[in-house]
Amino acid sequence: MYKSEQLARSIRALIENGSWQAHSKLPSLREQVQRSGFSLMTVLNAYQELEAQGLVYSKEKSGYFVAGNLATQALAHHPETKLNAHIEINSQVFNYLKATQDEEIVPLGSAFPCSDLLYNAKLMQIIAQHAKRKRSYLNSDSMPPGNLELRKIIASRYSLQGIPTDANDIVITSGALEALNLSLQALTQAGDYILLQQNIFYGAWQAAERLGLKVITIPEHPQHGFDLVSFDAALNKYPIKVCWLMLNSHNPIGFTVSNEIKFQIAKLLHEHQVYLIEDDVYQELYYGAQKPLPMKYFDQHNYVLHCSSFSKTIGMGTRIGWVHVGKFSNAIQHLQMMSTLSASTLVQHALVDFLPSHHYEKHLRQLRLQLEHNKQVFYQFLKAHLSTQCEIYYYSSGYFLWVKLPEHVDSMSLYRQLLEYKIAIAPSSLFRLNTLTQNFIRINCSFNLNERIQQALAQLICCIQQAINHRSDSR
Ligand SMILES: Cc1ncc(COP(=O)(O)O)c(C=O)c1O
Repeated sequence: MYKSEQLARSIRALIENGSWQAHSKLPSLREQVQRSGFSLMTVLNAYQELEAQGLVYSKEKSGYFVAGNLATQALAHHPETKLNAHIEINSQVFNYLKATQDEEIVPLGSAFPCSDLLYNAKLMQIIAQHAKRKRSYLNSDSMPPGNLELRKIIASRYSLQGIPTDANDIVITSGALEALNLSLQALTQAGDYILLQQNIFYGAWQAAERLGLKVITIPEHPQHGFDLVSFDAALNKYPIKVCWLMLNSHNPIGFTVSNEIKFQIAKLLHEHQVYLIEDDVYQELYYGAQKPLPMKYFDQHNYVLHCSSFSKTIGMGTRIGWVHVGKFSNAIQHLQMMSTLSASTLVQHALVDFLPSHHYEKHLRQLRLQLEHNKQVFYQFLKAHLSTQCEIYYYSSGYFLWVKLPEHVDSMSLYRQLLEYKIAIAPSSLFRLNTLTQNFIRINCSFNLNERIQQALAQLICCIQQAINHRSDSR
């Protein structure tokens, strides 16, 4: 046994027999060196091992502390709740986005709906009209926190959902990605713990890597999408500062969490005084009559920063997003002024004219119907060929299908193989880190099933079947 393992075991025993209480400080590294006679490196390795096991947590410049005991027991039933101390995803995402940009590639891995569905002639006409007016792009009225009229319109859309909102609660950003990143940056410092869902939009992992944060992940609940028990246990166990969650039309899986669960999440956030950055970019892409409520609706104590954008409804090229930010408005504007300065003035002006018109609502209605239709067609097509070997997760919103392949199929190899046929899919390693298997793929179903798409799906099915059979052949 390594010396560090030996030391980790003896400390573990002290924690388990209650000699060291929850949240008490462990001896500093130097003290431990003196006590144990081991080298500094051995002690550090032992502490890191205990941290990876979830028995202790660290605080920047303060040292190591014993994790919550109750939570330790609860987590025994949820072994997938874990610390991801080491995150490395930025290069992978960069390479993926570069490799799939080519227009010749069938974009089944894209995160954006088919551009034909997003194009709106009326909006383009309004942008053209504004482009002729100097005021629309030279004026400084759209600097942070953003164009006042646009913020009033966004605020009134919240109020319509029963979330009383003032224009001053809103900061306009360059897309949701900036809203999310600035929110996380404003709320955390390097070394802080944040909580993510086990499968989550890669932007969350990228931000955590860039800011040097420690990530705790909780598994999805097989029926409800969100696992409240794991969430509660993780909040008890680790000094989590911020959660970053998707609860409506989750990317990549697609589920929407019930109001009851959202209510419980809000209660726990308040109890533990933990902030939530809510990524709600697909909020408008529901299928039924009712727009799902955001966590902001259940947030009586202002722990939620709600982020969204127009990228998924009128195009990512607009680069207009926002954050419902509450008391962090100044902190976020401060960061924004040091980076992008402001979102496009011209587009902000155009949206002020476009959004209140009946054109936007009509556009949304058509978009939702078309997405629902296309996703259903994709689902039937894939189900007909794959349902015996793969599990296809269908949820009624958005435009993603999440497909579970047999465990021995590596989705990254499948992605590489399909790229040779100029077809892109999104492999699960973009969304879930540090897992034993990577046998999921996300498919963008927003396209009409024309000949090009049909051929791409046929090729995808063929490659999946080859990969499945490869294992049976080699037995
Ligand atoms: C879940 C999720 N959040 C945020 C973003 C970023 O959106 P935006 O283009 O508004 O920056 C995306 C884009 O793909 C996304 O899928």
